[in-house]
Amino acid sequence: MAEPPHSTRRPTPLDVVRELRTWIADQLDSESRGFDREHGTATSWFDLGNYEPTPPSVVEAVLDALPAPLERYAFVDLGSGKGRVVLIAAGRPFRRVVGVERRWMLHRRAQRNAAAYTGRVVTAPEWVHGDVRTAPLPDGPLVLFIYNPFGLNVLHAVLERVAGREVVLAAVFPPDHAWLEAQGFTALHVVPNDVEDRRWSLFRRAP
Ligand SMILES: C[S@@+](CC[C@H](N)C(=O)[O-])C[C@H]1O[C@@H](n2cnc3c(N)ncnc32)[C@H](O)[C@@H]1O
Repeated sequence: MAEPPHSTRRPTPLDVVRELRTWIADQLDSESRGFDREHGTATSWFDLGNYEPTPPSVVEAVLDALPAPLERYAFVDLGSGKGRVVLIAAGRPFRRVVGVERRWMLHRRAQRNAAAYTGRVVTAPEWVHGDVRTAPLPDGPLVLFIYNPFGLNVLHAVLERVAGREVVLAAVFPPDHAWLEAQGFTALHVVPNDVEDRRWSLFRRAP
């Protein structure tokens, strides 16, 4: 019988060891820690929930690849954690920059990070504590950023909320491309990589 997909297989002790090794390596990641040292923030330390920050250079690469002009778009990080992505995006001329996070402690940490942040801010960051399925979202064309925050059922619910609007989906460790195409998206930019948090795609859905 074929092995079930990874997500439904029971984890073995070896899986747990691999996961722990990755977790420790990520805690020590010099790029992440360098970002915090330089900007006075605390975004690096992972969380035993599902908080994992996107590497700063990946966020910059994603922002560089977005369709111009950025002033047309409100940028929303769906599951913004400790706020790193939102703070980096605030250095660009988006119409608005918003982080939505459902976990109160992470939301508060993001706000404290914003207060301490010494990097460039062009668009004042906004912080919403709530679930992306119900939290208020900005009007007009959107850039929705995701880094593996939730399952496809939640993403589907968010995409339903913004049906009829232009949406650029910026996804690190992206969902299945065929699934996105079935939701009406077209790929703009695909960056393959064996490392999960360095693999990303831009998709666009016309209004
Ligand atoms: C992998 S972290 C990514 C953090 C940040 N976007 C980044 O890339 O640095 C995913 C975040 O999504 C949040 N999250 C998960 N489900 C959510 C939901 N339904 N509504 C809002 N936030 C959610 C988690 O609490 C976590 O902070």
